[in-house]
Amino acid sequence: LSQESQSMLSAYDWLTKLYHHLLRYTKDGKDGYRYFRDRGITDETIDTFQLGFAPNIKDFTATFLEKKGFHQQLLIKSGILTLKDDDSVSDRFRGRVIYPIRNHLGKTVAFGGRTITDQGPKYLNSSESELFHKGRILYNFDLAKKHIRKTNEVILFEGQMDVISSYQAGINNVVATMGTALTESQAKLLRRYVDKVIICYDADHAGIEATYKAATLLQSVGCQVKIARMNNGMDPDEFIRENGADSFRTEVIETSDTFLTFYMNYLKKDYNLSLEGDRIQYIEMVIKELAKIDSPIEREYYVKELSNEYGLMMDTLLEQVHTYREKSSSPKDKSTKERYTKKVQNQYQ
Ligand code: UTP
Ligand code: MN
Ligand code: MN
Ligand code: MN
Ligand code: MN
Repeated sequence: LSQESQSMLSAYDWLTKLYHHLLRYTKDGKDGYRYFRDRGITDETIDTFQLGFAPNIKDFTATFLEKKGFHQQLLIKSGILTLKDDDSVSDRFRGRVIYPIRNHLGKTVAFGGRTITDQGPKYLNSSESELFHKGRILYNFDLAKKHIRKTNEVILFEGQMDVISSYQAGINNVVATMGTALTESQAKLLRRYVDKVIICYDADHAGIEATYKAATLLQSVGCQVKIARMNNGMDPDEFIRENGADSFRTEVIETSDTFLTFYMNYLKKDYNLSLEGDRIQYIEMVIKELAKIDSPIEREYYVKELSNEYGLMMDTLLEQVHTYREKSSSPKDKSTKERYTKKVQNQYQ
């Protein structure tokens, strides 16, 4: 680690403690404390995650750290202070609750700060630095690691609050991407520790799109994926608060979908299944994906489902699955798709 990185770590360490202390024990932090308590977060959890509060004072942090001997330049570089267009410098986090973002060793390398007044962006992060690359870090990986190893699976969330609620409820093999798309580097990191990843993103449009991308990426690095399903726009934190941890475990995590079940629903948005042409294309897309499944029993299960739902003969579908499987292990055969489309069309006639 460079001298500079060491200093940044030290600055983050001081600030983590300061913000946490303010939140937990002082009047200056009581709005932050109230905020977390109102969201059902206990003192113990606040301590575990070192949650804090940055007061709404322009140079509170700068003054504190400069007194400790840190140079302004370093604090800008580390993403703690912001350099404005007019060359003035100010604290990045003001009047926000603070989520220290820890690396795999448990050292704070950045902060996430959430507004408690609905002003400005909901979440604000430290800018990237030598220590902090958003695409290479997963929130809570350090604490989750031993639980991930033990269970050989990990639950992947979008946000800090999802992780914190779940962890507090006793489901500890949990990490979050903090809103952005899962990267290859994060996927590979998870692959080193687990076979199975349960993706549990928000049940809204953005969450569903991100789920598809994350699932595809995770499969490409060799993870088995499951997709958790929640109703109407909920997120895991809301679900746990509303229904409790037991429901979350049994109704969301343990009954999560296979990728194919998710994909069959996901794909439907692109097709009007009351039109024959769309229907054929849809089925073909599903079969293409289905053909990637290695277990013959599992393949047959889905084929049966498709066959029932769309009134096609099992044999036709199975034959097509077979063709796709051969194709993926041998050079491409251009005519297969045309042949198959004909065959399905004939069945509809
Ligand atoms: P969400 O938009 O799902 O957060 O973003 P949320 O569930 O509404 O937030 P809460 O529960 O009210 O606190 C998920 C994650 O994306 C990142 C944050 O890490 C957040 O936890 N995010 C979100 C940002 O970085 N910036 C934003 O403006 C919003
Ligand atoms: Mn939101
Ligand atoms: Mn979301
Ligand atoms: Mn959310
Ligand atoms: Mn939320």
